[in-house]
This record gives sequence, C-alpha cells and structure tokens, in this order.
Amino acid sequence: MRIRLTASADHAADLVAHEILTQLRAKPNLVLGLATGSTPIGVYKRLVDAYQTGVASFAKIHTFNLDEYLDLPATHPQSYRFFMQRYLFDAIDIPAAHIHFPPSEGKRLLRRCQRYEMDIQELGGIDIQLLGIGSNGHIGFNEPTSSLRSRTRIKTLTPKTLQDNARFYASHETQPTLAATMGIGTIIDARTILLQAFGQKKAEAIRATVEGPISSYCPGSALQFHEDVTFFLDSEAASLLSMRDYYQQTQRHEEQLRREDRM
Ligand code: GLP
Repeated sequence: MRIRLTASADHAADLVAHEILTQLRAKPNLVLGLATGSTPIGVYKRLVDAYQTGVASFAKIHTFNLDEYLDLPATHPQSYRFFMQRYLFDAIDIPAAHIHFPPSEGKRLLRRCQRYEMDIQELGGIDIQLLGIGSNGHIGFNEPTSSLRSRTRIKTLTPKTLQDNARFYASHETQPTLAATMGIGTIIDARTILLQAFGQKKAEAIRATVEGPISSYCPGSALQFHEDVTFFLDSEAASLLSMRDYYQQTQRHEEQLRREDRM
C-alpha cells in the first residue's frame, strides 16, 4: 500500500488525474472503474480539461461504475448515472456504448449482475479503479460485514450511509435503501486502485482501512490484500494514522529512487 499525504484535495486530484492520463497515453483503450460522490469530482474536472484542451481522448476507453441506487431512473438527479453524465461523460468523447453501470432497474437483477462481471472480464478486466470511502469504511456500496470476496450484487444500505447521504434528498423524496454494487472481490481484481479521502469525517474509516485489522466490518481494509493500491489523503483524513512520518519518508524515498531511474 502506498500512502500519499497530499497538501489538499486539489493536490490529490492533480496526482490521480496525472496517473490516469499517463496510463491512458500508454493504453488508449483503458478500462476504468469509476466512483461517485463528492470526492472524485476534482479528478473528473481534470479529465474533462484534458479532453477539452486536446491533451487526451476517451473515445476508446470503457468505464464500469461501482454502484447505482435501485430503481432511481437515470434522469433522477441523485442517480449515479445522472452524476456521471454531468461531471464526466457529457463533456468527453466516450461513446455511450462504452459506459457500463451495474443493473439497478427491471427484473433478474442478480443474473444481470453476473453479466456485469462477465462484461468486465471480456474487456480484459479493470485497469484503474477509482475509489472514495464511506465514513463507515464502505467501498462502492459494500457495507460493513460484506463478504471480502463478494461480487456484483444488491446490497441493503446501513442507517449510517442513509444518514450520510440524506442531505441530497428533498424532504418529499424517498431515499433509496437498496443499491447494486460491485463486490469487494470485483474491486480488488482491478490492476491499480486509486483511493481518495478528504476531511475529518473520513479519518476513522482511513485509520481502520490502512492500519486496522482486515475485517469485513471495515470493507476498505480488504484493500490491504491489493498489490497496487494508493491512498491519496488530505491532512484531516490522515489525522488518525499513527505512522504518518513513516509514510512521508517512504514517499521521499520513492521519489528519490524514481529520479535516479532505479524504480
Ligand atoms: C457513496 C458511494 C461511495 C462513495 C461514498 C463517499 O456511498 N457509494 O462510492 O465513496 O459515497 O462519498 P463522498 O465522496 O461524497 O464522501
């Protein structure tokens, strides 16, 4: 695990976007796993800028989103499909047929969840998975006690997650309590994982994810199994980590070894 203690959310977004654009240059048909929520918006802004300034084309990429609320239509402003169109897809050159979401409407959801897994496989697997984290340690919508080897399926949201997201719904609107989500096993199959977390409200989840025991009670802790995962944290999200000095030192060493072309 690599822990990057960044100066700000903007700095983290610069680093994450740079990593995605570097991999995109090497592989124009990159397969991206995407996240929603406030955390990845800065990265999406930078990807849109890269497209609009002619630095990058997304015409050959495929995207797989982590999750979607059950039965919210794509036209609903709180649906994750609406979010992605607004912050990324409408502003870049990705073909609509290259955009994939877990099934969240209609019948036979579990069978279609399996199809989602097969679609990922058929495109060669996810190259980069972008992640945020819930204040209870969830990744995607894999709530505490999700199986560490789970695959795409339907999950019931916890009261904590519902409470965290309640601010997005008007009082007359019904907040969905179910979601389709990639499993933890699906997520950790990605070749590279880039997780961002900002603000004090993520500090405990980050402590448990990075320095706690591996436990389904903190789904993020499953990332400790991954061989290429980087956490981009602001100072508040990193504030409960006990080995902050060590992480800074490893970062300096890595930069030095790269400068010397020894990595
Ligand atoms: C939701 C999403 C997660 C996201 C989390 C944090 O629950 N399913 O993928 O990481 O919210 O959201 P935010 O980035 O707004 O803090």
